[in-house]
Amino acid sequence: MKVQIEDKEFTCFLEYEQIKKRTRLLGIQLNVDYENKVPVFIGVLTGSFLFMADLMKEVHVPAEMSFIKVSSYMGQDTSSGVVKSIIGLDIDLKGRDVVIVEDIVDTGLTLGFLLDVLRKHEPASVAICTLLLKPLALQREIEEISYVGFEIPNEFVVGYGLDYKGLGRNLRDIYRFIPAPSET
Ligand code: IMP
Repeated sequence: MKVQIEDKEFTCFLEYEQIKKRTRLLGIQLNVDYENKVPVFIGVLTGSFLFMADLMKEVHVPAEMSFIKVSSYMGQDTSSGVVKSIIGLDIDLKGRDVVIVEDIVDTGLTLGFLLDVLRKHEPASVAICTLLLKPLALQREIEEISYVGFEIPNEFVVGYGLDYKGLGRNLRDIYRFIPAPSET
């Protein structure tokens, strides 16, 4: 099946049933790894909202959960010109076992920033659970990535929380961009 979002056409890549099955397995893994612990799951908005909701239904250990947002704004005092900050962190993470829930890790730069900030809160442990990982796009090694739903090629994807130009987050399945012949 294909969908058109603004100027781009996307084709179905991962169906919701596949995502659900994989999420169930991630939940089983988390239940084993966090047995006798009370982890804090932190979803990174906006993209993780559907994955977080489905994942949490598969986690049966007692757990706290929260959402944060990484905001970017143009600053004048950094080399890249982009300054990031975290909004919404409302749980004291000191001594806690933290699981960051991401929709996708692409270059890993956002996650790298997030990890640097979270480590300052002195958690007992930090692990990352991401639905999608683009290994070929990763610009730095991130050893905390312990739970991966699917490794995918270096292609733009949309749906199940992920957007293109703000649209497509409410698609049930995940779609990948089909480049026009002139764009390949
Ligand atoms: P990073 O490159 O790992 O820092 O990715 C940062 C953010 O870019 C992710 O959390 C997503 O919100 C967004 N992103 C990266 N790749 C895609 C994609 O293929 N589709 C939609 N959003 C993406």
